[in-house]
Amino acid sequence: MSHIRGRFHKDADKLVTEYTASIPFDWRLYPYDIAGSIAHARMLAKQGIIQAEEAEIIISGLASIIQEIEQGKFQFKPELEDIHMHIEARLLDKVGEVGGKLHTARSRNDQVALDLRLLAKEAISNTLVKLKAFQQALINLAEINKGVIMPGYTHLQPAQPVLLAHHLLAHFEMLQRDADRFSDCLKRTDVMPLGSGAIAGVAYNIDREFLARQLGFSQISQNSIDAVSDRDFVVEYEAAASLCMMHLSRLAEEIILWTSAEFDFIELDEAYATSSSIMPQKKNPDVAELVRGKAGRVYGKLIALLVTMKGLPLSYNRDMQEDKEGLFDTIDTLLSTLEVFSGMFETIKVKTVNTEKAVRRGYILATDLADYLVKKGESFRTAYDIVARLVNYAMEKGKSFSELSLTKYKDFCPLFSEDVYSITIESSLAARDIIGGTAPKQVEQAIATAKKIIGDFSLGK
Ligand code: ARG
Repeated sequence: MSHIRGRFHKDADKLVTEYTASIPFDWRLYPYDIAGSIAHARMLAKQGIIQAEEAEIIISGLASIIQEIEQGKFQFKPELEDIHMHIEARLLDKVGEVGGKLHTARSRNDQVALDLRLLAKEAISNTLVKLKAFQQALINLAEINKGVIMPGYTHLQPAQPVLLAHHLLAHFEMLQRDADRFSDCLKRTDVMPLGSGAIAGVAYNIDREFLARQLGFSQISQNSIDAVSDRDFVVEYEAAASLCMMHLSRLAEEIILWTSAEFDFIELDEAYATSSSIMPQKKNPDVAELVRGKAGRVYGKLIALLVTMKGLPLSYNRDMQEDKEGLFDTIDTLLSTLEVFSGMFETIKVKTVNTEKAVRRGYILATDLADYLVKKGESFRTAYDIVARLVNYAMEKGKSFSELSLTKYKDFCPLFSEDVYSITIESSLAARDIIGGTAPKQVEQAIATAKKIIGDFSLGK
């Protein structure tokens, strides 16, 4: 078989052949395509649709094709369109006529759906493993720097003191939601479509449950038309990847800020920084910038697929061939991002002198002063106004809160007494002793919980 032309009398135009071919990218489906075909051949034999010996010949032919591909000996040709036709054609070359029995009770429409689901399932597992490794790197950094205090920011203005570990665990939480989303999308990916045929189901007594078991699926599809039309699982992976990249990009943005001379909170290991071709003093956070940059690329693939799918009538349409490059690129981008970021975070050094200096500058304890007055009986709004005036006064005089005299405090509100001086960065942290707060005790507990989540993680569930 060179290529399938059915009732046609002439070859496709050369440009058409190239334009419509998916082999330049869908060769990546080969392990799944062959696994699917082996299971299919076994099932056909078990059901008496082909002879057991025929199945044996087909299976050993397929096994040798996988070796040819892996050893780089396999010849790819655009006129064979896609990976499914390549493997089938090669099988016919190798085993002759009997190879033609493999495609009984199957169509490329359910075949490609199967292959893509197998690939997506593996991608989800790999993503979860890499996500967990990165979450572990965040926990490690939090733990090594357990006592480190920094300003917490809102509007990128110093707001209230927080523990660096608390901040890092915020990112842990975001990634945990990502992990949940990927696990959840696995449920809908884990559905075996073979048996749907081209659209209507196949006219043979096949055993779909057997196929599902052989291929490690926990469910089989319930409607043949839907099964060959459905690419929701690809959209879902790309959507979950987009959210995850958004999270990684926000963290990347902080790394970029924190390595700037203006913040100077952290030092990147030289293995994870780049130099400038012209300015010898520079140490650039290019890795983080590319994480931020690649988020846009991942969103692009999601939007592209949503747009591709939105106008398609049921069932399979060739437009759907456009699902693959975006998915492959998204998987590669996300996995490499997680991997390189894990390495980077394992080697980040926190400049604790600078984080400490930053938190002790300015009027970051203003909320605590207001809370102090509230505890002495003032309403929060009035307390807020008093402290606002106090801040203005202190700024005018160029003084910090601790440099103001008690008499001065009392000028602003008679409720102030000597114990106002016990309001410190440390007391501010310790006061936030509620679940989710930045009190050292709480953060210690949160680190333990995060470790347990990672420790309990297994791909099996
Ligand atoms: N190359 C095709 C794709 O990627 C495989 C399925 C083709 N089916 C068809 N009837 N032309 O979607």
